Amino acid sequence: MVELALPKNSVVKTGKTYAKPAGAKRVKAFKIYRYEPEEGKNPRIDTFHVDLDDCGPMVLDALIKIKSETDSTLTFRRSCREGICGSCSMNIDGENTLACTKAITDVSGSVTVYPLPHMGVIKDLVVDFTQFWAQYESIEPWLQTYTNNPAKERLQSVEDRDQLDGLYECILCACCSTACPSYWWNSDKYLGPAVLLQAYRWIADSRDEATADRLDDLEDPFKLYRCHTIMNCTNTCPKGLNPAKAIAEIKKLIVERQL
Ligand code: SF4
Ligand code: SF4
Ligand code: FES
Repeated sequence: MVELALPKNSVVKTGKTYAKPAGAKRVKAFKIYRYEPEEGKNPRIDTFHVDLDDCGPMVLDALIKIKSETDSTLTFRRSCREGICGSCSMNIDGENTLACTKAITDVSGSVTVYPLPHMGVIKDLVVDFTQFWAQYESIEPWLQTYTNNPAKERLQSVEDRDQLDGLYECILCACCSTACPSYWWNSDKYLGPAVLLQAYRWIADSRDEATADRLDDLEDPFKLYRCHTIMNCTNTCPKGLNPAKAIAEIKKLIVERQL
């Protein structure tokens, strides 16, 4: 009989608990996932205590404070701290979101901080985006035209430009894709909501002339049709976008061109 068991290093252990700051009146505990694959040890959860009266308001502020003052080995990505670059995506309090726009006070009790789910962990909260970026590259995310270049520029009406609202704002943080059960099970073949929203961003652009090629490429049982409209993607997007709707629009266009 086949015996199934989880790999030994999948068990998350209890790590260090750091002391509460002396004299602090408003203290919040942060329970943070720590893992360094090269060490050959299991992941662990370290507990840090942060004085909220001596810290900025966002979870990213607390992570930076912990790294600066308590444990410089804590590893995470960040850049803009304005919800624009998409670097600080992680799982906070059970939800994929951006650490720089998630207010600490929005979490009751201690703040749990994990890497994005179902991604390979490089270290602590840093996950491997190699496949995600390759999938993004596969949809050729740039304007493609076949007609001669106009003398000045490719114009777009106000109405046509409006079609890009809700699409161009995507910051490729991958919160949606890593919340999608279909992407968890088939991430090698299914493009996932973030990349499909980006694909639709170019399909919806009135200046782009590669729509037929783009739809041909997406008409595939795995690349597109693994979406079962579970809506996790839309519910978690920290920018308030609706990848599930973009996916539905692509499916609709593929059906319409067959009529
Ligand atoms: S659709 Fe939203 S959650 Fe998904 S990658 Fe774009 S900004 Fe992030
Ligand atoms: S709607 Fe589609 S892409 Fe979004 S979470 Fe569900 S299956 Fe994934
Ligand atoms: S640091 Fe850029 S989105 Fe959070």
